[in-house]
Amino acid sequence: MNKLLAFAAITLLTVGIHQLSQTESVDQRLQFENYTTKYGKIYSPAEKAYRSKVYEDAMKQIQIQNADLSSTAKFGENQFTDLTPEEFAALYLTRNQSNMNLNAELYVPQGPVGASADWSNITKVKDQGNCGSCWAFSAVGAVETLLTLKGVLPSNTWLSEQQLVDCDRGTNNGCNGGFENLGISWAKKNGLTTSDKYPYVGKQQKCQISTGQYKPSGYQVVSASNMYTALSYQPITVAVDASSWQYYKTGVFDKCTLKSLNHAVLATGFQEDGVWIIKNSWGTGWGEKGYIRLPAQGNPCGVQNESYVAYLE
Ligand SMILES: *[C@@H]1O[C@H](CO)[C@@H](O)[C@H](O)[C@H]1NC(C)=O
Ligand SMILES: *[C@@H]1O[C@H](CO)[C@@H](O)[C@H](O)[C@H]1NC(C)=O
Ligand SMILES: *[C@@H]1O[C@H](CO)[C@@H](O)[C@H](O)[C@H]1NC(C)=O
Ligand SMILES: *[C@@H]1O[C@H](CO)[C@@H](O)[C@H](O)[C@H]1NC(C)=O
Repeated sequence: MNKLLAFAAITLLTVGIHQLSQTESVDQRLQFENYTTKYGKIYSPAEKAYRSKVYEDAMKQIQIQNADLSSTAKFGENQFTDLTPEEFAALYLTRNQSNMNLNAELYVPQGPVGASADWSNITKVKDQGNCGSCWAFSAVGAVETLLTLKGVLPSNTWLSEQQLVDCDRGTNNGCNGGFENLGISWAKKNGLTTSDKYPYVGKQQKCQISTGQYKPSGYQVVSASNMYTALSYQPITVAVDASSWQYYKTGVFDKCTLKSLNHAVLATGFQEDGVWIIKNSWGTGWGEKGYIRLPAQGNPCGVQNESYVAYLE
């Protein structure tokens, strides 16, 4: 949040509050009022003027992007519309650069590729809030779906991301980013507890429960060519460049950029027509009830660059 306010302050200084509000129509002001009410945003008068301008610019961008009729991807308002792309990246795109350990165990296919797969019925869309903990959500998503499929974790029982944020402090960095494979390793060593016992608060705390009963045997690296096979049996973690995901609403997203793998998510399946199904951790108000679909061709957003399965021996 400090970063956010710092951005706002700099922009206010350079542009000036007065200039910002002069260019606003009554309609735009009302639309922004509605927006702040809907998303429960509370701003000081100075920040409000700035946010309103950011929101207006974003709505223009959204209109331009939606005018591309060659794409099924559509964009719209969500909780991120009054953040600049730079603020959005600083707050949410916090996954560290590649941590691919070349000596790590490789995933070996155990059976044939299915025609399609969709494990979303054993997952739940969660919300990381204002905390760069995507890596924890991706890791926990992989572990809880694995253990549910193996009958170890009762269905509709969820594991604790907060425990990873608070307790996995050796190599990972809480709300400032981390790696999903190292999160799975922590779970292997210490075990995860449930989110009922250790609820998500979205900020760094002292570690409160340092072990848990739910343990995977570890993680394996899924090569790009094995993604279909792995997904035929269980969800897998994927790392992506999510710089262009800010305004995504629906459709097959074909506006990827690929500079850095700055976000971690959970692939939960693939469709027969060549689409990856991806669960995000930005709440159900983002995208398709919390999900995004990516074309399976051409490694969009780097989705095939760094991927892991949790496994149980
Ligand atoms: C704001 O919300 C009110 C009530 O839902 C609605 O009537 C009005 O049209 C909205 N205004 C704008 C500019 O979106
Ligand atoms: C969930 O989906 C899988 C794969 O499509 C299916 O085999 C399973 O029966 C579904 N389970 C429930 C509870 O709907
Ligand atoms: C991840 O990045 C943060 C911020 O740059 C840094 O403090 C941390 O040490 C990095 N962690 C790893 C495991 O590289
Ligand atoms: C993703 O993988 C491709 C193919 O191996 C590689 O060329 C590219 O540099 C990788 N990008 C990132 C950001 O890791």
